[in-house]
Amino acid sequence: MKRISFLNGNFINHAEAYIHIEDRGMQFADGVYEVILFYKSQLIDNEWHLERLFRSLNEMDIKLPYTYEELSNIMMNLCQQNNLENASVYIQVTRGVTNRNQLIPEGINPTLIVTVSPLTITTPDDLINGYSAITLEDIRWQRCDIKSISLIASSLSKQKAVDLGYSEAIFVRNNTVTECSFSNLFMVDNNDNLVTKNLDNHVLAGITRKRVIELAKAAGITVIEKPFTPDELIAAKEVFATSTTLLIRPLTKINETIIGTGKCGSITTKLIKSYQQFLNNID
Ligand code: PDD
Repeated sequence: MKRISFLNGNFINHAEAYIHIEDRGMQFADGVYEVILFYKSQLIDNEWHLERLFRSLNEMDIKLPYTYEELSNIMMNLCQQNNLENASVYIQVTRGVTNRNQLIPEGINPTLIVTVSPLTITTPDDLINGYSAITLEDIRWQRCDIKSISLIASSLSKQKAVDLGYSEAIFVRNNTVTECSFSNLFMVDNNDNLVTKNLDNHVLAGITRKRVIELAKAAGITVIEKPFTPDELIAAKEVFATSTTLLIRPLTKINETIIGTGKCGSITTKLIKSYQQFLNNID
């Protein structure tokens, strides 16, 4: 079966989906993106993702002439055309094509790309042992709240973590833990509070983060959004990362330290189950 993607108004063969050599996305990383979970033929927390997409576009002063409904229809249509039931949907919007110019051009048409890829959802049993992570200096820019396609600092950091034998890179800026290279970070402190960095320009307002906070509160868990240090992180009872593609990923080793019992902790397990229940109750 041919893979189909969406490019500037057309559903086309993925292998023939080309953009222009002077697209500003390529020359200046002048664009933003979203990754949305498509599960059992539904777009999960779609409204929140689209709100964040338009916020990112607004911060970059890129005007995308599509409504939420039009974008949702394209995504649903693409998942159907590719015959996928569970998938990750990738939306990318760049400022568009123009002669290379350091100044921001006006009046050009944005480039809109939508692709879908199959996604396997992890089960609690897959996650019992958890994953390892290493703390690294946050070398990204100062606008991590924008979901920018300029991801090289994140990509180099994740590669460094993997080369050193870890699964994830945890960023630290001025002795504050911000987030992971491609996910948000939570810890459970000694009072069983769930702690995550408060939102500011140094973290992305993750959609899974937001959903997990709601699920935790509904389960009676106290959630605290505040800065914390790498020392506090390493002393935590439980640590996990969240993102649209990882969902909730326990981190049971950070640098040289085993976190808690070295297995996925009880609060993390509870949240993984609540998230699974949330997905299964969507219709
Ligand atoms: N990344 N922080 C960063 C830096 C991220 O890149 C991501 C997501 C998140 C989690 O956001 P959400 O829960 O909305 O997926 C936090 C996506 C999945 C990616 O780049 O592939």
